Amino acid sequence: MGPDTPSPELPGGPDTGPPELPGGSVTGPPELTVIIPTYREEANIGAMVREVSRTLADHRIRGEILVIDDSSPDRTIPIVRDLEKALPHVRLVVRTADPGLSQSVVEGFGIARGSVIQVIDADFSHPVSLIPAFLRRIREGADVVIGSRYVAGGGIGEWPLSRRIISLGATAMGRILFPEITDPVSGFFAVKREVVEGAPLEPRGYKILLEVLGKGHWTRAEEIPYTFENRKEGASKLSLTTIIAYAVQVGGITGHAFSRREGAAWRELSRILRFALVGISGIAVNMGILWGLTELAGIYYLYSSAVAIETSIITNFLLNDFWTFGGETGHRMGRRLHRFLSFQLVSLGGLVVNMAVLFAGKEIFGIYYLAANLLGILAAFVWNYVVNRNVTWRGAA
Ligand code: GDD
Ligand code: MN
Repeated sequence: MGPDTPSPELPGGPDTGPPELPGGSVTGPPELTVIIPTYREEANIGAMVREVSRTLADHRIRGEILVIDDSSPDRTIPIVRDLEKALPHVRLVVRTADPGLSQSVVEGFGIARGSVIQVIDADFSHPVSLIPAFLRRIREGADVVIGSRYVAGGGIGEWPLSRRIISLGATAMGRILFPEITDPVSGFFAVKREVVEGAPLEPRGYKILLEVLGKGHWTRAEEIPYTFENRKEGASKLSLTTIIAYAVQVGGITGHAFSRREGAAWRELSRILRFALVGISGIAVNMGILWGLTELAGIYYLYSSAVAIETSIITNFLLNDFWTFGGETGHRMGRRLHRFLSFQLVSLGGLVVNMAVLFAGKEIFGIYYLAANLLGILAAFVWNYVVNRNVTWRGAA
């Protein structure tokens, strides 16, 4: 659906004239569309719409508010209908098929008329007062502005441990794809409409932002810290299905990155691939030198091994420095010698990780030692990649 397509089932929609706010200009489409997805939000939505409305007015922002509801059985719909009558810049969309938070937000993208789109929860978890700051950052040139719980100044209210762990796991997965973004699963963000226009979004589950980052058209993403407030009214709808949907979504973004071969996610995934290939080349170097020194030079095999290991660390470093992480910027990285020392230490750490997993697998879980070693290699690979990416080559574009 194009951005200008008026939604047919919208009373008080486009036909009633341009939405207007006190202080806003009289003509033209709104600059900002605020999308509020709702399901069973009768306790919050009235106050929420009024607060967003007041914030837009106070800051002289020409905006519209789109409430996208999935046929809530409670009083959410009548409450918003009444607001629609009172406030010309409020629109309600009632969905009847394919329910879901992400689907709702994407439907909102399709009918939003603003050149900037803000997404915000209905339950006051996201501070409404920050909306003007999001808009300002977009006006100043950002394509995507993300409310982050994980940058300095951000935070989380009182979450139960289980929810913290789930959230951290989801965030970690997302951060592998977008290492510069601390909260890629935030539900509080703003985008230029061009970012999502025509993007092949496959909305499912809760994490629509990850989908936007994975498939949208953007170059500049910025974050604004905020503190996630626990909802005071109603209940969260996060479930196991949501978590599975998230894993499928990460898979989909990975597939998309491989087929398109451009964009931020592709840059990271192709880097992981290069890093893995370099690791495999290191195994060949290690084996070759071990064999050569032992068989041809007649050196005691453990001495040969020490030389073999160190040589493969050096060749791995050089290949990663010039190839895996090279070619692009580097101005934010330290000197090559520093990077080498860091890589050397991380590699030794990887050795320890490998052996610890081997030991635990065999002694504690009774796994056959060669199988346990495979797990160890995998764990060491993850360790090596993640630590080197975030320490040794931190800031590589
Ligand atoms: N239309 C629609 N359809 N809206 C929904 C649905 C749905 O199926 N499920 C939830 N919503 C709405 C809620 O009414 C609320 O406005 C918002 O989406 C968030 O739902 P919550 O159930 O309150 O989510 P949460 O607090 O667990 O999760 C929040 O935190 C995540 C970060 O960890 C949300 O903000 C997520 O967007 C965010 O990713
Ligand atoms: Mn919530």
